[in-house]
Amino acid sequence: MNTTPLQGIKVVDFTNVQSGPSCTQLLAWLGADVVKIERPGTGDATRNELQFDPDCPSYYFLQLNSNKKSLTLDAATPDGKEILTKLIKGCDIFVENLHPGAMDKLGFGWEAVHQLNPRCIYGTIKGFPVTSKYANLKAYEPVAQVTAAAASTTGWYEGEYNIPTQSGAALGDSNTGMHLTIGLLAALQQRERTGEGCYVYQSMHNACLNLCRIKTRDQLTLDRIGYLTQFMQYPNEKFPDYVPRSGNTEGSGVLGWTYKCKGWETDPNAYAYIIFQRGAKDFELACKAFGFEDWLTNPDFNTADARDRHKQQLIDRVQAWAIDKTKFEVTDILSKAGVPVAPVLNTKEIMTDESLYDGNTLVRINQGGKVGEFVTVGVPFTMSNYQPTYGPCPTLGGNNEEVLKGLGYTDAQIAEFDKNGTTAPLANGKM
Ligand SMILES: CC(C)(COP(=O)(O)OP(=O)(O)OC[C@H]1O[C@@H](n2cnc3c(N)ncnc32)[C@H](O)[C@@H]1OP(=O)(O)O)[C@@H](O)C(=O)NCCC(=O)NCCS
Repeated sequence: MNTTPLQGIKVVDFTNVQSGPSCTQLLAWLGADVVKIERPGTGDATRNELQFDPDCPSYYFLQLNSNKKSLTLDAATPDGKEILTKLIKGCDIFVENLHPGAMDKLGFGWEAVHQLNPRCIYGTIKGFPVTSKYANLKAYEPVAQVTAAAASTTGWYEGEYNIPTQSGAALGDSNTGMHLTIGLLAALQQRERTGEGCYVYQSMHNACLNLCRIKTRDQLTLDRIGYLTQFMQYPNEKFPDYVPRSGNTEGSGVLGWTYKCKGWETDPNAYAYIIFQRGAKDFELACKAFGFEDWLTNPDFNTADARDRHKQQLIDRVQAWAIDKTKFEVTDILSKAGVPVAPVLNTKEIMTDESLYDGNTLVRINQGGKVGEFVTVGVPFTMSNYQPTYGPCPTLGGNNEEVLKGLGYTDAQIAEFDKNGTTAPLANGKM
């Protein structure tokens, strides 16, 4: 039996940069037939952004467009509109992430596409929910992070670096693409019953805020009692009336912190994250592993609430224990004792860990040519009966002939589209 989840699902991908392409790449890896529409001559902006070689597409583009087909198309020309109309009539999902209003201006907004093909599901990414006062803003990653409480709650809470800080994780971009994917898969399932496609509107703000849910939990608590026991600021400092930055505090009620390990003078990531769970049994395991058995009978430490009140002393003592051990030794000792712990890993350490090349976590894709092999992050879940295959990215317009012939166009028409500015830039440089 063919277990490819999205076998036979046709996607017209009018997305650029990271948020939209991360969604359509996942659909492609799940087996959908994805045709990426790119502007003639230039293509997706990421093709030429952050390049390692002027003759090669950047890793930015390569990591987001595997397994897709590329059709260059100026959707503003009469022929371009006709081609796009034909594609839409035969597709299951149309996805776009142009700036607000742009798709309507091109004549392919939700209502128009729904009229052309009522079964087509329409996915769209914008910066903000339609009701937001920021709904018309153009949006990039930091715009989402700064407006969804990610930046205001991330980073240090005192000193020179007490400034709103962006997460290295793409909470506004790839995270939005993943959220949209959930919406599109739900819409596909819904269409099974209704026979009709729906409009899936995904804002970067919603996707980012969804991951900041626990910060809204903290706001509710703060509004009630005026402090947050898990924060380092508790119990010694006054809390503002909004959730402050929490440094490296754990997001739940357990007591977690980042500890400096051997080698920190030269390696800025020589740290381990260690967690004290709340239960008495877990605390006993931890005390034995550290050799802190005296805490088992010390009322300042032998309950979770007491530890919250004396967390600075706890951290100081664990820090003194960790400082002469490497982050890997710390991890080894504590994990064997059942204490939640992990080394802080840098990108090099992750990407050279062969155990992660398990067919999904990190994957090597052979792009061929001057690019050769590159590494990317695969489908972020595994399915017991489906293994994705990871293919190369398309060259700009590399599938024009295949796609256009599939729509019934002749060689002569395809040559004419190249000349009249539909699939290639006009000779005079005009678009
Ligand atoms: C990312 C973003 C800020 C870039 O904005 P931008 O520089 O204006 O670029 P866009 O790709 O949106 O559109 C530029 C123009 O190209 C046009 N265009 C793009 N592809 C086209 C095509 N194949 N054929 C014809 N026109 C095309 C658009 O219609 C638009 O025209 P207009 O300005 O006359 O309306 C904006 O697209 C945006 O806010 N998107 C929504 C949020 C998002 O996904 N952000 C990206 C995060 S990675």
